[in-house]
Amino acid sequence: MSQRKKPKTTVRSKSSRNKQQRQQTGVKKKWKPSSKRWLSRQAKDIYVQAAQREGYRSRAAYKLIELDDKFRIFKPGQSVIDLGAAPGGWTQVAVSRVHADTPGGGQVLAVDVKSLDPIHGASISNRDILEENTVGEIHDILKGDADVVLSDMAASSTGHRKTDALRVMTLCEAALEFANTVLSPGGCFVVKVLKVGAEVELVKRLKQDFSSVRHAKPPASRKDSSESYIVAMGFRG
Ligand SMILES: C[S@@+](CC[C@H](N)C(=O)[O-])C[C@H]1O[C@@H](n2cnc3c(N)ncnc32)[C@H](O)[C@@H]1O
Repeated sequence: MSQRKKPKTTVRSKSSRNKQQRQQTGVKKKWKPSSKRWLSRQAKDIYVQAAQREGYRSRAAYKLIELDDKFRIFKPGQSVIDLGAAPGGWTQVAVSRVHADTPGGGQVLAVDVKSLDPIHGASISNRDILEENTVGEIHDILKGDADVVLSDMAASSTGHRKTDALRVMTLCEAALEFANTVLSPGGCFVVKVLKVGAEVELVKRLKQDFSSVRHAKPPASRKDSSESYIVAMGFRG
């Protein structure tokens, strides 16, 4: 007696079934309202458009350009460490301003817990600044002291404003501790903070360590964001 073959069943994921249904019915994927708002804001944002046109990896690049235009942070030939560098907009700006992409120019070291695609003129270190060995490992990569330490580090958002601000503050403090071990006298430290009051203690410490401490909200920083930058210059060593 011939046995009937069982029909083959292919197990497909829910998302692939949904995709096939959408293709058959011509119905497009529905975006969440928050994603729609984000996409529409990105499409209209002049800094996003400029970054695409000028080859910067992030709109954040313009924040550093504006900070440097105002405070004259960089000089050709300097040594810069960029903490929280991914995807690399700030690193691109630093490379260009210290001429790290030309022989005899400066040096730029980009550090991030996420991996970064190579940037001509920069060294990349894929590390978590909060881990114990990171500071020593960065010192091993560096040739000498640094003139500028940048920190645009941000932890992923929890949606809770105070918790986010405290997490950013932990990163700021780690960045400052690191800057204290690596900056040469007269050096500069630029750090992102979320302004909810928790930054007061940090500013006190910065005033002890640097001769000038100034707050800045560059035009490229979105008005509805609580982020702001502190530019500390004249490291006392
Ligand atoms: C706002 S993004 C930086 C954008 C960057 N300045 C640019 O112009 O492209 C913040 C970065 O901080 C990094 N970060 C957060 N916590 C970190 C940590 N503990 N150590 C190193 N990087 C960290 C994140 O991975 C993220 O890439």
